[in-house]
Amino acid sequence: MSNRTFTMIKPDAFAAGHIGSILKHIEAAGFKIIAMKAIRLSAEKAGEFYAVHKERPFYGELVEFMSSGPIVAAILEKENAVADFRTLIGATNPAQAADGTIRKLYAKSVGENAVHGSDSDENAAIEGSFFFSAFERI
Ligand code: CMP
Repeated sequence: MSNRTFTMIKPDAFAAGHIGSILKHIEAAGFKIIAMKAIRLSAEKAGEFYAVHKERPFYGELVEFMSSGPIVAAILEKENAVADFRTLIGATNPAQAADGTIRKLYAKSVGENAVHGSDSDENAAIEGSFFFSAFERI
């Protein structure tokens, strides 16, 4: 069990002005921000990040959406970070997300679902390193 996870606040939530509210939920749940930046992904970089989904029917839509506007990327620290963060954000599809979760509150659809959270310790390390050098982390 690792104590770090990786998140992106996606273009839908960024455009709607929900960055501050979402960060407030994250900090209130006990996560510490270890690294953070606002950035706009190119289609190439978004495709690289989500390469694991390359064969899925929604891949093109996902890449287009994730490169459609700026995002906030962050590394978060807390005991049991990966699992606790996935509980905090709720199900991938906001229609199935529990009340009070970030996706229930801010996501529009399964595609435009406000936030990303790593699904394993291994992917948290890979995804964090995709965006941040060692120099850019606390
Ligand atoms: P995320 O947690 O960032 O990981 C992969 C993303 O693919 C997921 O959130 C969704 O935004 C997106 N996704 C998953 N299933 C679908 C779908 N059926 N249609 C469109 N996008 C999807």
